[in-house]
Amino acid sequence: MVGKLIFLGLVFINLGLGVHCAAPRRPVDVPFSTNYVPTWASDHIKYINGGRSVDLVLDRNTGTGFQSKNSYQFGHFSMRMKLVGGDSAGVVTAFYLSSNNAEHDEIDFEFLGNRTGQPYILQTNVFTGGQGNREQRIYLWFDPTKGFHSYSVLWNMYCIVFFVDDVPIRIFKNSKDLGLRFPFNQPMKLYSSLWNADDWATRGGLEKTDWSKAPFIASYTSFHVDGCMASTSQEVQVCNTVGKRWWDQKAFQDLDAEQYRRLRWVRQKYTVYNYCYDKARYPTVPIECAKYRDI
Ligand SMILES: *[C@@H]1O[C@H](CO)[C@@H](O)[C@H](O)[C@H]1NC(C)=O
Repeated sequence: MVGKLIFLGLVFINLGLGVHCAAPRRPVDVPFSTNYVPTWASDHIKYINGGRSVDLVLDRNTGTGFQSKNSYQFGHFSMRMKLVGGDSAGVVTAFYLSSNNAEHDEIDFEFLGNRTGQPYILQTNVFTGGQGNREQRIYLWFDPTKGFHSYSVLWNMYCIVFFVDDVPIRIFKNSKDLGLRFPFNQPMKLYSSLWNADDWATRGGLEKTDWSKAPFIASYTSFHVDGCMASTSQEVQVCNTVGKRWWDQKAFQDLDAEQYRRLRWVRQKYTVYNYCYDKARYPTVPIECAKYRDI
């Protein structure tokens, strides 16, 4: 009975919030180990402040990475990161969701390092059913190596939104009416890694990693995960029962006018590359780009 009352109370609060606010819920800071475990080279992950923050270390021997303990079908996922400073050309830091199978779905943030004083590029991509090739690249409006900034994904049945701090930098809408697969029936885990990618990352691979500057260190904190946990297909179905969760409410089904204004600001001032406008690569405009002018 008490449980039921609490549940009703939560539903009520959710609806109340949904009506008035279109920004996702404030992330809650939790320690690394609440949601994550190392994936590889665990000795290259340093725990700080009792694990409330971690440093990932890349040296000549190896990079490193971590992943979420659980799989999720929809939710809001956020990480505060401070990227490798100084000469970081060739070094890539990533934060992404992936179903990690052959026909995988994936939602990517990739940070491409650069020579000292030269700007990082933030590349985003969305894979559906194993098919990606939807890169967008932007410069950031701040130096991501000077302090922590939050990088978040809101993912529901309607859209996938990439946020940098509170600014939406990309929205990928569910275009199933166009015959486009949308990630909704394969749960994903969260991953992060730091590695050497000097074969492609900086100025297309021209700038090589300067190993005399190693170790390269990326710092992480606030390991917020608010998702619908799913590993079996039954659980996926439960998560797909639209309407139950805060992110299903009307306010989160699309960006509001102010958020579109901010997205346009990013597009106009910071775009480096957008697959939607790459005529050489896509003589026919990708359907999702054609339908949603500013996807
Ligand atoms: C690195 O800096 C160069 C020169 O400013 C710039 O053209 C490039 O886009 C920057 N970023 C990457 C990842 O190459």
